[in-house]
Amino acid sequence: MAQAAATKSAAPSFTLTNNQTGDSYELPVFESSIGPDVIDIRRLYAESDYFTFDPGYLATASCESRITYIDGDEGVLLYRGYPIDQLAENSDFMEVSYLLLNGDLPNQGELDGFVDSITHHTMVHEQLTQFYRGFRRDAHPMAIMVGIVGALSAFYHDSTDINDPHQRMVASHRLVAKMPTMAAMAYKYSIGQPFIYPRNDLNYAENFLHMMFAVPCDSHAVSPVLADAMDKIFILHADHEQNASTSTVRLAGSSGANPFACIAAGIASLWGPAHGGANEAVLKMLEEIGSVAHIKEFVAKAKDKDDPFRLMGFGHRVYKNHDPRAQVLRKACHQVLGELGVTNEPLLELAMELERIALEDDYFVERQLYPNVDFYSGIILRAMGLPTSMFTVLFALARTVGWIAQWQEMIEDPGQKIGRPRQLYTGVNQREYVTMSKR
Ligand code: SDX
Repeated sequence: MAQAAATKSAAPSFTLTNNQTGDSYELPVFESSIGPDVIDIRRLYAESDYFTFDPGYLATASCESRITYIDGDEGVLLYRGYPIDQLAENSDFMEVSYLLLNGDLPNQGELDGFVDSITHHTMVHEQLTQFYRGFRRDAHPMAIMVGIVGALSAFYHDSTDINDPHQRMVASHRLVAKMPTMAAMAYKYSIGQPFIYPRNDLNYAENFLHMMFAVPCDSHAVSPVLADAMDKIFILHADHEQNASTSTVRLAGSSGANPFACIAAGIASLWGPAHGGANEAVLKMLEEIGSVAHIKEFVAKAKDKDDPFRLMGFGHRVYKNHDPRAQVLRKACHQVLGELGVTNEPLLELAMELERIALEDDYFVERQLYPNVDFYSGIILRAMGLPTSMFTVLFALARTVGWIAQWQEMIEDPGQKIGRPRQLYTGVNQREYVTMSKR
């Protein structure tokens, strides 16, 4: 964390010196409102003929943003300045979505108008249902979501002009509104049940659970406790600075690609087990560990540099303290299991024991590897009856509003350019073609 200097110079800058030539380059510093300031290196290549090098962008700011802020050392997560635990406690996903997209909490009229717009965009074009029938029933729902969301570009030509603010708003509302419908359709298709249409008398989380678990031949009452827990899960997963999938959405959008295609790219990136796929991987890991007796064996594997195994649900690129989302989810986890009367959930007991052992182990303590958001979300979702294959779909559903807010911010940035990183080339020098007879 950049320490706030006692007195900041009028025009903060860094001087970089090439120790071989003695050449110096003065680089301006841009100051943050909170968190590290940045060194503007945009002129460095033109003046020095050097690139900077930062694979994985561990220390590189890819953009300026006003949406979300994480303090990894303090375990703080702010959406437009509001702490995530206060939003999880006092707000709901529709209000948080409005906040992320518009920058401020809505008044009642603004919120009612936003919710009304989302509610009336929840249906999908009826022909879109045909796309599902092209997949095998056992297709991973994330594979379906990448295809279906990308296919929205083929249905909504009236909201793909990224230079039209109204079309950007319509596309944004369509995506936030339709993700639960398309996600539930992916689940229904996988179990051979008919698709359930959205209902306008239910709120966002209730509607999703209804579309997931109702059947045409029976009424389905959504538990308010489960709907509240689902809404909280949506809030906690809504945005998270420039993570891998958000950076994917921004990079895709920087070429002028339409918002549906950009969100499909974000879904593809989120699928990875090191990112959004971790919640599904956590459950698979707990099932593989099987019992408390085997925990020590798996912790040893996680510490073994020659073993690719890692403890899924532990560690984070930014949080080097507790993930504040995991703290909220841990509490919600016990509430959901209590509501469901699940008192002896073996996997939860296994997870609690794994957390205790890992947090006492020097390897994890020294590397500040704490449980992250995925450690508890998987247990809650499993307790709510979702198959593990749907966990990352849930994450994508919730993160769509964050991806869109970040995409909008990039499109509206007057200084925005197409993203085009450079490289350190260490391949062979130029050489002449060798004909087959001489190889
Ligand atoms: C998400 O970016 C985001 O914000 C993502 C996210 C979001 O909301 O968008 O927060 C969502 O993706 C959460 C993370 C979910 N992933 C997992 O739970 C998978 C398991 N976690 C690891 O793969 C890992 O911790 C990462 C990918 C999350 C972070 O990796 P980093 O920052 O690149 O850290 P690293 O790989 O350099 O690890 C540092 C050290 C290494 O050991 P040494 O080389 O220093 O000896 O810690 C070790 C790693 O081997 N380590 C682990 C570990 N995570 C890191 N060892 C065992 N188990 C782990 N989980």
